[in-house]
Amino acid sequence: MDLKDKKEYIDKIRNLAREKNAVIFAHYYTRPEIQEIADFIGDSLALAQQATRVQADILIMCGVHFMGETMKILCPDKKVLIPDMSAGCSLADSCKAQDLAAFKAQHPDHMVVSYVNTSADVKALTDVVVTSSNAKKIVDQLPKDAKIIFGPDHNLGSYINSVTGRHMLLWNGACHVHSRFSLEALLQLKQQNPGVEVLAHPECKAPILAQSDVIGSTKALLEHTIKSSAKRFIIATESGILFEMQRACPDKEFIPVPPELTEGVGCSCNECEYMRINTLEKVYNCLLNETPEMVVPKETAEKAISSIQRMLEMS
Ligand code: 13P
Ligand code: SF4
Repeated sequence: MDLKDKKEYIDKIRNLAREKNAVIFAHYYTRPEIQEIADFIGDSLALAQQATRVQADILIMCGVHFMGETMKILCPDKKVLIPDMSAGCSLADSCKAQDLAAFKAQHPDHMVVSYVNTSADVKALTDVVVTSSNAKKIVDQLPKDAKIIFGPDHNLGSYINSVTGRHMLLWNGACHVHSRFSLEALLQLKQQNPGVEVLAHPECKAPILAQSDVIGSTKALLEHTIKSSAKRFIIATESGILFEMQRACPDKEFIPVPPELTEGVGCSCNECEYMRINTLEKVYNCLLNETPEMVVPKETAEKAISSIQRMLEMS
């Protein structure tokens, strides 16, 4: 898209959003131009919290499917649009509701803590939802003797076990973007940049986290770069966050950790293709035509809402 088209789309989206009383939400991993037009950018927790606070007729969630679902469950009376329904999530896909139901049946004395990166059907089988912002805080509040199933992210679950001293039973799911950061490349970057802090998302594998100085949600990592007096940072998470980091700290430098090479083929991509599926054109069309609209079956939404509400209360 050339600059003229981009400006035209931005103007058209802003005017239409005003006319239709619509609010645009975006996750930090979306394309820079989507973050530019968003009224609100945030991590999964902040997006969910903010959705419950805004006065609007239409909410547009530029992110992935589970974020739109969570928004619709929390705001059933609002029209929730998502620019592209095929914006999935490999992590959410790694835990199917029927598999979780079978696992729960094998462990009837366990409660279920689910990461927000899950379908509404999985949330309906969950006792409390967590995000990377609040997982430690929420698990710390659960009874000390509680038996817990944690899913679907194995990396986040191991990290939370390590910082809470719990022994939660972990689902074996993962995010394809965060599991492929290269430890070798990270060690090399640390050697080339002595003393530079490494900031990582807890969805990264344990060896990457073991080499990191700050571990947190996208919002927590961004806030650290703003507060810190350091001028350079090594970043191990999806590279879309670099846009907001650079915008907030124009005088600082952010060095992304590259992914592993797959079978000798260079894969220079630390981007989530599902997040990047959102384009200005799709945002415009979805606002103009008010489709695709997120729909969550009433029965599922009624079951899922309590685990999300519990999270908001415990955050
Ligand atoms: P955050 O909640 O930290 O923004 O993470 C969402 C996500 O999908 C990470 O891959
Ligand atoms: Fe899902 Fe990974 Fe993309 Fe986050 S980065 S939305 S966990 S696939």
